[in-house]
Amino acid sequence: MGTIPGEPRDRRHAAGLLGLAFGLVVAVAAVSVSAEGAAPDGAAIIAHGVGTAPACATCHGAAGQGNPAIGAPALAGDGAAYLRAQLRHFAAGTRINPIMQPIAHALTPAEQAAVAASFAAMPAPVPHPVAAAANPLGARLARRGSWAIGLPGCEQCHGPDGIGVAPHFPHLAGLTAKYIAAQLAAFRAGTRPGGPQGLMARVANKLTPPERAAIAAYFGAESGPAEKKP
Ligand code: HEC
Ligand code: HEC
Repeated sequence: MGTIPGEPRDRRHAAGLLGLAFGLVVAVAAVSVSAEGAAPDGAAIIAHGVGTAPACATCHGAAGQGNPAIGAPALAGDGAAYLRAQLRHFAAGTRINPIMQPIAHALTPAEQAAVAASFAAMPAPVPHPVAAAANPLGARLARRGSWAIGLPGCEQCHGPDGIGVAPHFPHLAGLTAKYIAAQLAAFRAGTRPGGPQGLMARVANKLTPPERAAIAAYFGAESGPAEKKP
């Protein structure tokens, strides 16, 4: 009996709550619309992720230094246009990688541009001193290439010691030998687009297996940039 007199009040109360909830939904929608209108925050996406995309820093490091143990390359200091193009390739499935494809796909084009710009603004990995004497084949290919097969030295595009020449030529310094070898294989197999004018597909296709192994070992360090030399 006691609940009946209260019923209309409860209904009014419920209706009021519903109205409030509706108002909140409208308000939240308005906030997310205005957030979409504003430029996404690349640094925040790197640190915290966005939507279903996890924080980039978990794998690529807060300073974009990469994590050799899980095969995540250093991104710091690469050109924004280059990084953005890679995200587009992953999202479109033209660069095949089971980890990065869904992550890139979860980002809007504006978010891809924002994270690319943030990583590009970070200082590039410092090249480790390359021991040319220990790897003469790698050193020759890196510095002079091979005129006989029309191959310029890697450093002619990627800079001395593979330091990178933004915006188009990513750094090789700071990558692992394993990652470099895998990318050369991907350029050859076409599971990664060959870059502007198919440059890297042509380079990778000219190298023999021993040359690919030598050049990967030359620029790459198994421990990557995380290893701090005293
Ligand atoms: C779970 C680990 C993981 C997370 C999280 C992650 N990545 Fe990656 N990322 C990788 C791996 C592994 C590769 C190497 C793919 C390959 O071998 O081709 C990679 C490659 C890349 C590349 C290509 C780099 C190059 O030089 O070609 C870009 C760009 C990139 N990631 C951006 C991002 C961004 C932006 C985020 C955050 C939104 C992110 N990644 C989150 C693991 C991760
Ligand atoms: C004529 C210029 C040119 C030369 C010479 C060249 N590269 Fe490249 N390389 C590029 C470009 C451009 C890209 C970026 C491709 C893209 O946009 O996807 C690239 C990308 C790469 C990548 C991918 C890096 C990453 O972070 O994923 C690797 C590895 C690489 N090159 C290795 C080499 C090696 C090893 C040599 C020497 C044998 C070499 N390159 C010679 C132009 C060149």
